[in-house]
Amino acid sequence: MTKKIAIFASGTGTNFVALVQQLQHWRSDVSIELLIYDRKQAAVHQRSQELGVPSVYVNFTKYADKSQAETAMLQALKQRHIDLILLAGYMRIVGPTLLNAYQGHILNIHPALLPAFPGAHGIEDAFKAGVKVTGVTIHFIDAGVDSGPIIAQETVRIDPTDTLATLENRIHQIEHQLYPRVVKELITEGVV
Ligand code: GRF
Repeated sequence: MTKKIAIFASGTGTNFVALVQQLQHWRSDVSIELLIYDRKQAAVHQRSQELGVPSVYVNFTKYADKSQAETAMLQALKQRHIDLILLAGYMRIVGPTLLNAYQGHILNIHPALLPAFPGAHGIEDAFKAGVKVTGVTIHFIDAGVDSGPIIAQETVRIDPTDTLATLENRIHQIEHQLYPRVVKELITEGVV
């Protein structure tokens, strides 16, 4: 049975591209079927078109609440028989509608060593705090903000010569290797 993957993203989409490039032709029984994005102008949409990955735009303002939006998302996921969801810069907390339907099958990437520096500005927060080591975390999600069981982490040193921009650059490079690698391992081991 083919393992069907959906990626949720709201932004630039560099992790989306890394995941598609490294997973789409990895194994014939693994397929990235869908991008779900929630910001109409998000660059990730353009990237999905370039890579030939179908996409669904979810306009949250059209729905009365998150559970209704997620019900529509769930329908799109079920239609395509999606087994695994990868959050890649998706800037919303996933609610119970999706969490219950995909328990243990939703992963997230966060650009810091959780539980340190959760939230939308993980790289900047670590840089400003003056820590000497930060990194990247891959974790299962739960109902919280960047919480849930940690699967893998990779450290990144912050050097005295680093600027926020050079640090961001290094973190993103690690992200683009770590996320596809961890997904491959989890699939190979039958965890997801
Ligand atoms: C990444 O830093 C990821 O860790 C965080 O959001 C950012 C998304 O970047 N969750 P991109 O859109 O993949 O370029």
